[in-house]
Amino acid sequence: MIIKWLGHSAFQITTDEFLRILIDPFISNNPVAPVKVEELRTEIILVTHGHKDHFGDTMELADRTGAVIVANHEHSVYLSQQGFECIGMNIGGSIKFQDIKITMVTSNHSSDMDFIEEIGAGGSSSGYIIELENGRKIYHSGDTGIFGDMKTVIRNIYQPDIALLPIGDRFTMGPMEASIAAQWINPQIVIPMHYNTFPIIEQNPLEYAERVERLNPDIQVVVLEPGEEYEE
Ligand code: NI
Ligand code: MN
Repeated sequence: MIIKWLGHSAFQITTDEFLRILIDPFISNNPVAPVKVEELRTEIILVTHGHKDHFGDTMELADRTGAVIVANHEHSVYLSQQGFECIGMNIGGSIKFQDIKITMVTSNHSSDMDFIEEIGAGGSSSGYIIELENGRKIYHSGDTGIFGDMKTVIRNIYQPDIALLPIGDRFTMGPMEASIAAQWINPQIVIPMHYNTFPIIEQNPLEYAERVERLNPDIQVVVLEPGEEYEE
């Protein structure tokens, strides 16, 4: 499996069975994106919420690649009306797509559809647990503040192996909160996201890694540059 960071909260996961999953594909307006939208191929796109820096190029990508869009109910109603193939879901529910399982989980954030001119209500923001064919579980938290369910629902029920967590502060957790979140979730690996895209969310990911290590040396923080991959 390969997890490629496309900057901000955008990731491409390629599974051992060569299924390509894009999460929050904010590419064309993303100053640190390492690829062009036209270069991306995907079978499925997961959207955590309707803010532009997450919804990003979802419609253009789905249009060109024929990918299915997974999003919350409100987004899927809107996108279906626009002719897109969607799988609408809601917090706590799971779907199967080929041999992977996707569960939508809570995030502590806001959500409207600010990617359309007449900003629409966008339902709840969310995170996802993605269980791959080999049983490995990846948690993409979306934008979120720290919340207690990370150490109960996320940790006890879903037990993710890899957690993708925001550390940028201001709009999400900062490094202090995200280090405690890592401890609560207790994955093997944490990959920080949602930082250094813009000056207002500037952070030093190595300082974050040190914080996590101080709390729990068994958790490995993998710091990627946009375009870099974590492979296992
Ligand atoms: Ni947001
Ligand atoms: Mn955001």
